[in-house]
Amino acid sequence: MDKLIVKGKKPLHGNVEISGAKNAAVAILPAAIMANKGISNIENIPEIEDVHCIERILKSLGCRVKKQKNSITIDSTAMNNFVADTDDVRKMRASYYFIGALLSRFKKARVELPGGCPIGVRPIDQHIKGFEALGAEVSIEHGAVIVKANKLIGTNIFFDVVSVGATINVMLAATLAEGVTVLENVAKEPHVVDVANFLNSMGADIKGAGTDIIRVKGVKELKGCSYSVIPDQIEAGTYMIATAACGGQVTINNVIPKHLESISAKLIEMGATVIENGDSVTVKSNGKLKSVNVKTLPYPGFPTDVQQPMSTTLCVSKGRSIINESIWENRFKHVDELKKMGAHIKVEGRTAIVDGVDKLTGAVVKATDLRAGAAMVIAGLIAEGTTEILGIEHIDRGYPHIENKFKCLGADIKRVRI
Ligand code: EPU
Repeated sequence: MDKLIVKGKKPLHGNVEISGAKNAAVAILPAAIMANKGISNIENIPEIEDVHCIERILKSLGCRVKKQKNSITIDSTAMNNFVADTDDVRKMRASYYFIGALLSRFKKARVELPGGCPIGVRPIDQHIKGFEALGAEVSIEHGAVIVKANKLIGTNIFFDVVSVGATINVMLAATLAEGVTVLENVAKEPHVVDVANFLNSMGADIKGAGTDIIRVKGVKELKGCSYSVIPDQIEAGTYMIATAACGGQVTINNVIPKHLESISAKLIEMGATVIENGDSVTVKSNGKLKSVNVKTLPYPGFPTDVQQPMSTTLCVSKGRSIINESIWENRFKHVDELKKMGAHIKVEGRTAIVDGVDKLTGAVVKATDLRAGAAMVIAGLIAEGTTEILGIEHIDRGYPHIENKFKCLGADIKRVRI
């Protein structure tokens, strides 16, 4: 096991390269098994534990997987296993995409119920509703989701809640169904669009991803393709927020500025400067920020996945900030850790009231989940003294080489074996 040791109070300067999007990659890799011909070559894959987990699941299902630096080739032509039941499946949330992908290709699947960050109840009722509407029988037995269908037939599905996972999963199932499926009240996150583009590159007929309605015209088969995953909106947002909090000037490269608009707008409201330039954004700040109110919302609203890094920054911003977490009911676990460092935060249900203090001070803290981990790194960077962050296996699930990227920006941060 490792921990991070951060000595704070250094402004950040320089350039940072953003990796491929975790939440796109963890859907695209399972979707690749839907090809019964050809090999897929997927590039801009982030070097993170969640991707390693998916690679092992793909191999356990009988795919041939070859990893080279940031690309993966997947040959799923000979696979015939529709049971995903390894420890890796139980460990991560995104393993639920194997339900949609296997159902689509084999018309049956058995997938152990997914794990993931402890940030709320995380039901999959909307995924199940979609599979059933397409004609599948769904049951849950001994901790596994079992789905089967004689055939899947396109239909109209109106989701009760806007869900990234349900939108993608049902889109996967509908891709090889007979006829047309219309999905309404869908998620519009950039990774939903990326998965649709990937499926279309394999031969699918999907229109409307990125809007409220997705129309999937079922096709008979898919074949492998070459594809490059979009940049990670959340990783980029994390480095933007860190720069605003620490002060300095950082250019964040390999991003799609459009995907970052809600984060840029909030940082500008707080007093930082954000300049978009093609496929990069530059953030400048003197580290003295104003309080703001934040409400997390589905895209294009402010992303829940940077709420925790943002809340750290608000701890040292002037005045009172109110954070409303509207997506997950339990995404304030990092608050107790921030309090150990001197933060003044009160949590009431889904709302956190943050009263800015002059400084945070270093302490031993833990990453309670992935984004809480990023929040603790930022806390360490802005705090006086030394911060030790435990539980960094959570961070490694979703942030490639976080200590190296921050080190290149001038931060004093190192990883040590416990
Ligand atoms: N929901 C339901 N029923 C469902 C599905 C979701 O009620 O069947 C509710 C959830 O309880 C939640 C809301 O709908 O309140 C949104 O959940 P969503 O399904 O969109 O979340 P998810 O697909 O499980 C993905 C990301 C999360 C990110 C959310 C929201 C992946 C693997 N995970 O989760 O990412 O927070 O969308 O944007 O794509 C992270 O990267 O740290 C992370 C947690």
